[in-house]
Amino acid sequence: MSENSTEMRATESAEQSRWSMVGKDPWTMPIEKIDLSHPGIWHTNEFLPFLERLRKEDPVHFCAESAVGPYWSVTKYSDIMEVDTSPHIYSSEPTVGIIDSYEEYTLPMFIAMDPPKHDDQRRIAQPVVAPANLKRLESIIRERVCNILDGLPVNEEFDWVKHVSIELTTQMLATLFDFPFEDRYKLTFWSDAATAIPGAGVVNSNEERWAAMEECLQVFTGLWNERVNAEPGSDLVSMLAHGEATRNMAPMEYLGNIILLIVGGNDTTRNSISGGVLALNENPAEYDKLRANHGIIPNMVSEIIRWQTPLAYMRRTALVDAELGGKQIKAGDKVVMWYAS
Ligand code: HEM
Repeated sequence: MSENSTEMRATESAEQSRWSMVGKDPWTMPIEKIDLSHPGIWHTNEFLPFLERLRKEDPVHFCAESAVGPYWSVTKYSDIMEVDTSPHIYSSEPTVGIIDSYEEYTLPMFIAMDPPKHDDQRRIAQPVVAPANLKRLESIIRERVCNILDGLPVNEEFDWVKHVSIELTTQMLATLFDFPFEDRYKLTFWSDAATAIPGAGVVNSNEERWAAMEECLQVFTGLWNERVNAEPGSDLVSMLAHGEATRNMAPMEYLGNIILLIVGGNDTTRNSISGGVLALNENPAEYDKLRANHGIIPNMVSEIIRWQTPLAYMRRTALVDAELGGKQIKAGDKVVMWYAS
């Protein structure tokens, strides 16, 4: 798909596109025509029965024609596990997104790399979210949650996503990067700009997106220069600047990995906090169970991620011919693991 058609998609209604599944009957339409790649049914929250039919009738499903080209949909746990744990067959390169990437608009980042480089770089950043570090951060997270909730307006309507989900995740991201706290909303903007479809509200064009990315690189290069000459610290910038697998990254790779970490920490947690609160309010009996027994909070966290699924899918590309769930995947085929299923 060209950049132009990507921009067109942003301006047309998600339901009106010729590729949209909105309004189609998931149970009676020809199964080979089911196409989960268009955002329409995700906007209108109609995607679940499509996934249910694929799980029941065709768990490794080929869609021959779509706005993003031909691709396989994998909708069952065991098949998803097989794909996700076989990087020698199913590669994360050149992209984990369903739309084929354009070299000029693609940043190298370790999520879109295969072992060994993927594992070496991931190992550098991983300690920041390891249980020991989260334990260290627990009191500050609790304090911030209380401050944010105590500061909410009472008896008046307010935007939960903006005032709670974005505020909390942005504050915590700033801490993970040891980023200047007063400038923290830049992190939110860079994350939103990196993932936005041009014209859909955050940036108007790819040029505007790149201007935001350049500003991000400039600011983070300043932080790198500060920290590379200091003693190794426990923030992500210092960890990357001192890590063996990351200390010699080219500027674009540094930017790519910074964007990966900002987007990874921003979108997912924002959406699971928001979707979780919505789900509890829509299911008052579940909310009552939780109020009566705080011991079930750990279960609630996993359940919210399952229920809300902040990341609907990841894509892989087959490196060799392979069999999956009785289907023949060919080298070069696009394979999409639908976690939302
Ligand atoms: C509700 C919270 C979160 C969910 C549901 C979530 C989900 C995911 C998923 C499904 C993947 C892809 C795994 C794969 O390709 O097999 C991923 C990768 C990643 N996430 Fe998260 N994530 C969350 C929070 C975070 C946070 C807070 C950060 C950083 C501060 C983060 C950073 C990353 C990174 C760096 C990767 C790439 C890992 C790799 O390539 O091995 N995520 N996440």
